[in-house]
Amino acid sequence: MRTFTPEELTPRQRHHYILGSINPRPICFASTLDKEGKPNLAPYSFFNVFSSTPPILIFSVNTRRDGSNKDTLNNVKETGELVINLVNYPMARQMAICGVEYDTGINEFEKGGFTPVPSEKVKPFRVKESPVQFECKVLEVKALSDKPGAANLIIAQALLIHANEDIFAEDDTIDPRKIDMVGRLGNFNYSRANGESLFAIKQPPAEIAIGFDNLPDDLKGSKVLTGHHLAMMAGVTGTPSEEELDDYLNSEEAAEEIKELHPEIKDDKNILHEKVKDFLNKGEVRQAWLLYLAARHKF
Ligand SMILES: Cc1cc2nc3c(=O)[nH]c(=O)nc-3n(C[C@H](O)[C@H](O)[C@H](O)COP(=O)(O)O)c2cc1C
Repeated sequence: MRTFTPEELTPRQRHHYILGSINPRPICFASTLDKEGKPNLAPYSFFNVFSSTPPILIFSVNTRRDGSNKDTLNNVKETGELVINLVNYPMARQMAICGVEYDTGINEFEKGGFTPVPSEKVKPFRVKESPVQFECKVLEVKALSDKPGAANLIIAQALLIHANEDIFAEDDTIDPRKIDMVGRLGNFNYSRANGESLFAIKQPPAEIAIGFDNLPDDLKGSKVLTGHHLAMMAGVTGTPSEEELDDYLNSEEAAEEIKELHPEIKDDKNILHEKVKDFLNKGEVRQAWLLYLAARHKF
């Protein structure tokens, strides 16, 4: 383990260790207007949502290396409004062009090949290609330090939300495969929330799980089951009842499954743990518990 105080790192290391580890970060593609009404568009990945009621989005803009302000910061300070457009995979390569430090007054909609669409509640344009666009008013701009490279927090409230029809599932929720979001990592790396990188963990907060502390010691010390497997067993609200276990023990299914387990499992718990793992890998948590308890009962 490497341990540092922020002060002992060079600014470059500090920047890299923070960006290289706190990720993937969503990207706020900020559309603003300068005081003459010229459009500006730039990506910011120090960004997230901090409230849904009311909808509060926060991102931060560093000052440039020479200490000057980026256009987005000047524009939100001057106009008090912006559109935060989210970035998905089909538009990611174009978005990166808008991160180039073009001179003030250059329209990055044109540089990145994006289509400006008029907004309804604010003056800056929305990005047509973006799957979700938030028309926002700026609540506060807070400078975090006066040193060069220091960040300025921009706290914004969404007044109107536009979501592309194509990202919705049949039940009106947003389908992660359809929205196909990207995240920013360290250096020039990005990730895509799609395909094999998507997974669900159904652990409803209101259903009180038994927890690791209630797992039998041999499971907790298993050489076969990982933290992931144990969490599946610890994530249940209760283990099978005596009655359920009796029903299982009297079933043909149990006879088959338990026959495969040697009585030697007394000495070698790995055999049983392997079998439990097979069920867990198929997502059959109840079955894993039944087999485990039944084997303990039999041998
Ligand atoms: C994906 C991505 C994320 C970025 N995130 C940030 C960020 O969080 N803070 C920042 O100051 N600059 C960030 N940048 C750099 C700015 O986009 C860049 O300095 C841009 O030229 C600023 O434009 P502006 O002066 O028009 O606001 C990022 C660039 C990219 C490509």
